Amino acid sequence: TSALPLDMMIFGGTGDLAARKLLPALYMAHLHGNLPQKTSIVALGRQAYSRNDYIEFVENMSRPFIGKMNFDESAWAGFLGLLDYLCVDVINDPDFTSLARVSDAGAERVFYLATAPTLFTTICDKLAASGLVDANSRVVLEKPLGRDSASAAAINDAVGRHFKEEQIYRIDHYLGKETVQNLMVLRFGNSIFEPLWRAPTISSVQITVAETVGVGSRAGFYDSTGAMRDMVQNHLLQLLCIIAMEPPVSLSPDAVRDEKLKVLRSLRKMSMADIARDTVRGRYGRGAIGAEEVIGYLDEADVPEASSTETFVALRAHVDTWRWANVPFYLRTGKRMHKHSSRIVIEFTNPPFSIFPDSHGGIANRLVIELQPEEAIRFQIMSKQPGSGMQMHPVELNLDLQSAFPQRRAEAYERLLIDVVRGRLTHFMRRDELEAAWDWVEPIIDGWSVLGERPHAYAAGTCGPSAAAALLARDGFAWTE
Ligand code: BG6
Repeated sequence: TSALPLDMMIFGGTGDLAARKLLPALYMAHLHGNLPQKTSIVALGRQAYSRNDYIEFVENMSRPFIGKMNFDESAWAGFLGLLDYLCVDVINDPDFTSLARVSDAGAERVFYLATAPTLFTTICDKLAASGLVDANSRVVLEKPLGRDSASAAAINDAVGRHFKEEQIYRIDHYLGKETVQNLMVLRFGNSIFEPLWRAPTISSVQITVAETVGVGSRAGFYDSTGAMRDMVQNHLLQLLCIIAMEPPVSLSPDAVRDEKLKVLRSLRKMSMADIARDTVRGRYGRGAIGAEEVIGYLDEADVPEASSTETFVALRAHVDTWRWANVPFYLRTGKRMHKHSSRIVIEFTNPPFSIFPDSHGGIANRLVIELQPEEAIRFQIMSKQPGSGMQMHPVELNLDLQSAFPQRRAEAYERLLIDVVRGRLTHFMRRDELEAAWDWVEPIIDGWSVLGERPHAYAAGTCGPSAAAALLARDGFAWTE
C-alpha cells in the first residue's frame, strides 16, 4: 500500500450504494490490510448528520451487508474510526472549503461520486475551485454515466476539465467480478480456445444476466432508465467486449481498452427494421419467484401508471469483423426472471455431417460459462452411450470454480476500490469506450420510442416474453436455461 495518506471522499454518502456496497467493501479492504496506513473516509451528504449519527447509520445500514464470517468486531471498530461525515449541499453550497479543511494537504484524494450523474459537473467544478484537485487526485464515477451520447459527452467534458483521463475511474462493477476477470484468463491464458474462437467454428454467443429481484425501492431512478440503460449499455456490452475482443498486447489499461473499443465500434448499427426484428422489450407482471408471490412492475411503489419502461431486453447483435462475420450475439437481461443467473454460452457449429446414423446428431458443442451465483465452466461434448449401437449422448465436462478455488472472493466493489487506491485502471471504462457504447445503444432506444410499442408482458418468475425465445428460434437456436 502507498506511503501517502489516503483521503476517500464519498459523495452520496447516505445513499443506497454507499451503504450497501461501498462501505462494506471499504471495511473488507481495511480488514485485509489493503488500505494505506493513514486512511480517512469522509462521507458527504445533505442530511444534517453529526459524525455519531453517521456511525449509527453505518451500523444499521452497512453492517448487515457484511457476511458473518468476515465480521471482526475489532477491525470494525477500527474501520468506524476512519469514518467522518460532512454535511454538504452540492447544489447550494458555493464551494467545498469545509471539505478542504478536513483534507490533509499531502494526501492522495479519491472522490467517489455515488450521486445522480446530473451532479457530477457541479461537484467537479466545486472540488477544483476549492483547491482539492491535484496531480494525485482521482475521481470515481458511478454508472449510469449520462442517458445518451450527448449527456455522457457533456459529463466527460466537465470532469475532463479538472481531471486527466488517467485520473478518472468509470465504474462498471461487472469488471470487478472474479468470474468476469477470469474470462480474460480463459481466453488468453490457454492456447486451445483461441484458434476456435471465431466464425465459422463458433455459431452463436449468448449472454444472459437474469435477476430474480424486482425494481424494489428504486423505481424513482429505474423508471426513467430501463433495462437497456441500466444493464445492456454497460454490463452486457462489457461482457460482449471481453468475449469478442482480439488478444490485447498486454494487460495495461490502454492495451485492454483499445481492444474493447474496437469491438464496440464494430457493433453493427441497427436500422429501424433491425430494431423491430432483432430487439425485444419486456416488462414483468404479477407472478411468483419460487413460492413467493410478487406484484407486477406497474404496481411497484413510485412507478407511474403510464410507464412504458422495460425491465427486460433481449436482442441480436452483430460484431462486424472478420473474426465474427455472421455470428449472432444474443443478449438478454431482465428483472424478476425465473432464476438468478449470469451466463455466457458459446455454441460451436455442428459436425459437417454425421457418420452416426442412429444418433441424436445435431447437438452442438457448447461452452457454458456460469458467472454468478454459480461459478463454473462446463463444456458439452458428445459421448457414446454405452450399449451395442453407436448412439451419441451429450455429456458435460464440468469445472466447478468454487471447489477448485475455495478461498474467499472479494466482492466486485472491494476489488475495484483497491484498484482505485493503487492507481490501476485496467478494469475501468475509458471515455471513448463509454461513448461508443452509447452510440450503439441510443439509436435503439430512440427507435423504440418511434415504434411506440409497449413492452411485452411476462409473468414474474418466467424466462421473459415469448418473443425473446422466438428471436433465437428463428435462427435455429434456443436460450440455454
Ligand atoms: C446494477 C443495476 O448496475 O447492477 C441494478 O443498476 C442491478 O439494477 C445490478 O440489479 C446487478 O448487479 P449484480 O452484481 O447484483 O449482478
